[in-house]
Amino acid sequence: MDVENPMSADQLKQEIVRLKKEKNAVVLAHYYQTGDIQDIADHIGDSLALARYASTLKEARIIVLCGVYFMGETAKLLCPDKKVLVPDANAGCSLADSCPADEFAKFIAAHPDHMVVSYVNTSVGVKALTDVLVTSGNARAIIDTFPQDQPIIFGPDRNLGNYINSITGRNMVLWDGACHVHEKFSLEKILQLKEQYPDAPVLVHPECRKQVVMVADKVGSTAALLAYAKESNARRFIVATESGIIHQMKKDCPDKEFIPAPPNDSTCGCNDCAFMKLNTLEKLYRCLRDETPEVNIDPELAERARRPIERMLSLS
Ligand code: 13P
Ligand code: SF4
Repeated sequence: MDVENPMSADQLKQEIVRLKKEKNAVVLAHYYQTGDIQDIADHIGDSLALARYASTLKEARIIVLCGVYFMGETAKLLCPDKKVLVPDANAGCSLADSCPADEFAKFIAAHPDHMVVSYVNTSVGVKALTDVLVTSGNARAIIDTFPQDQPIIFGPDRNLGNYINSITGRNMVLWDGACHVHEKFSLEKILQLKEQYPDAPVLVHPECRKQVVMVADKVGSTAALLAYAKESNARRFIVATESGIIHQMKKDCPDKEFIPAPPNDSTCGCNDCAFMKLNTLEKLYRCLRDETPEVNIDPELAERARRPIERMLSLS
């Protein structure tokens, strides 16, 4: 690209559309991506929908996963014959990083006879140690398929694990990990907003802390929160999850108002995931043009990591 004359957003969009066609590429975007990326994607969704969609892609040669790196890895595990690209290979995830595979292996060894259930926000190494993966959209349904007295290890998100324990009456052993965005929502500020807008249901992602989940009118994955906003008769909503979802909420419900729940420290802009927001339209363009960065996974590790994803898809 000409550094002196950077392309305009419209030029970038035109080029992305052209390259997608020329290269037989499909662009998938998570709801936490910036609005311009969501708008140009072929398919947007929560992590469950993106994994499901990737698993159905037959014709495409290239998948570009606009989200965080583990989502690109999930797509690669499900589509080993396709080239999987990500706009920025540094788009990690603080939750996945809170659970290194070697430490998790020790945790599993310390709990013999436990089944290992992991949230999809994990590295390939952790997936390879897992019996079945879940997303926030299907965690309860999948865990409900196991006998109530089945001992389970759940990692890496302690908040999602606590939430599932509370709604299923289980006592899963939890890995002590968390997401830096969802941990930071301020209960105090949400309660103030509830007082100010008593008609506004509070929508909460289950990665939030227990005290925030407790004041929710709806707890669910990004897709579930979006569906709730569409179906509800309420005119406004307080949204406690990453702010990217509000783009789609406003598009789907143009006559409704969405109020982002503030984090503890209102100067930090923490309800933006810094990793998700590393992706830009320009990086998406360059990644399609240059076909890099590419997600590659060691085949032997991939074999082991694929099984719990396929099990998840068959159970949900
Ligand atoms: P969803 O499962 O709702 O997509 O959320 C996953 C997530 O935290 C992505 O950061
Ligand atoms: Fe990971 Fe949290 Fe960002 Fe989701 S919002 S990608 S869980 S750091």
